[in-house]
Amino acid sequence: MIVKHNIFKTDGRLFSKKDFGPDFKWGVSTAAFQTEGSPAAGGKGLSIWDNFSTKKGKIFKNQSAEVACDFYNRYEEDIDLLKSMNIPNFRFSLSWSRIIPTGSGSVNQKGLDFYNKIISKCLENGIEPWITLYHWDLPQALEDKGGWTNREILNWFGDYVKICAETFGDRVKNWIVLNEPMVFTGVGYFLGIHAPGRRRLKNFIPAMHHATLCQAEGGRILRKHVENANIGTTFSCSSIEPFRNSQKDRKAAIRVDALINRLFIEPALGMGYPLDELPFLKKLNKYYRPEDDELVKFDFDFIGIQNYTREIIKHSWLVPYLQAKNITATKRKVPVTTMKWEVYPEGIYKMLHKFGAYKNIKKLYVTENGAAFPDTYENGKVHDRERLDFLKEYLKQVLKAKNDGVNVQGYFVWSFTDNFEWAEGYYPRFGLVYIDYETQKRIIKSSGKWFQNFLSKSAIFSVLK
Ligand code: BGC
Repeated sequence: MIVKHNIFKTDGRLFSKKDFGPDFKWGVSTAAFQTEGSPAAGGKGLSIWDNFSTKKGKIFKNQSAEVACDFYNRYEEDIDLLKSMNIPNFRFSLSWSRIIPTGSGSVNQKGLDFYNKIISKCLENGIEPWITLYHWDLPQALEDKGGWTNREILNWFGDYVKICAETFGDRVKNWIVLNEPMVFTGVGYFLGIHAPGRRRLKNFIPAMHHATLCQAEGGRILRKHVENANIGTTFSCSSIEPFRNSQKDRKAAIRVDALINRLFIEPALGMGYPLDELPFLKKLNKYYRPEDDELVKFDFDFIGIQNYTREIIKHSWLVPYLQAKNITATKRKVPVTTMKWEVYPEGIYKMLHKFGAYKNIKKLYVTENGAAFPDTYENGKVHDRERLDFLKEYLKQVLKAKNDGVNVQGYFVWSFTDNFEWAEGYYPRFGLVYIDYETQKRIIKSSGKWFQNFLSKSAIFSVLK
């Protein structure tokens, strides 16, 4: 007998979890600032996001992340929920300022205790913890000293990574150094839309280079202090395509691709920055030291790719540095999510092929994929048909890439529960689990139930029969 929920069809064939192989890692991803709340509890210091999100006009409707999903107080209930949903891998991030309130110097034992409790709870329930060391919430005290634009961050970050590796490394083997460096440097230090709200190339260039250095340095420290570690870092990536098949648009798309998809991975692989496509990076000279050729490299065990959509690019003289602009999905009248991002499943296939083609990348995981839709809670239920279709369509493409021979070994949904979506506040709901923010009640959505069935042991048997 075949249980309808546990399988899906690609090119007329039925698929189940089994088709991805027995060692494929299935999981969900979250981040500290988006879920924990309790910004001052247990001796925590403030982060740039605690600071930025309380300034007027920075967050949709000035919403506050002080409670968010209240994961700080509800982590036990949430990990029980993960278990009940058959989810074997849980990716979450550590809040640097919970562990070292001022970013460098004294360690806060209560912060370490909090994450130790999460790790123990996961392990007791047979759930593998995956730690992200940096998911955008820099301690404010470090930002006051220049944050990512100050090269000292190599020491600050190094000390933080060492403490985490020494404290948790006996039990946690899967580590992610940075979450999407392009986003936290680009949106935080160039566009000023995310914390710390700084703008201009003069902030972006040093922040970008120091993040590249920290990415590699974090890898080296983990390698030294964690036995049998599986070490990676994650990148946002999108298929970048020209609007017209003209030389100008094609060249514009190549520049955007270099910025969005190649900037942080290629130095790590020993290929250097894509200077030919992005001449403005020559400003790096001011911050680049001779030893950096070596310091930016690290031999990661895996690369996490995080894909949501694609971008269509047109040449434009008006846009500084890139001479390129994005033709929005709304303008193109294609299906979109709440974020106004195009639903484009083939994009994840293309990105897996693109990253899979670098000869020094050993393996890939999809460390984030998912979508926000306007879910509604009715009669105790949340029917999120669009998310369900989205996840199935993207997963089919992951399987297709895997069957082509791309070494992709895992898939994590963004996100476990609805959460605080940065500058957008709470209106985009990305969760497999709905949160009623008034009561903090959790309700598994239809997509979550589907994932639960897809991952269940009995589902495999039903499909095999
Ligand atoms: C980030 C998440 C974010 C998600 C949806 C990724 O860029 O890692 O923190 O919530 O995408 O926007």
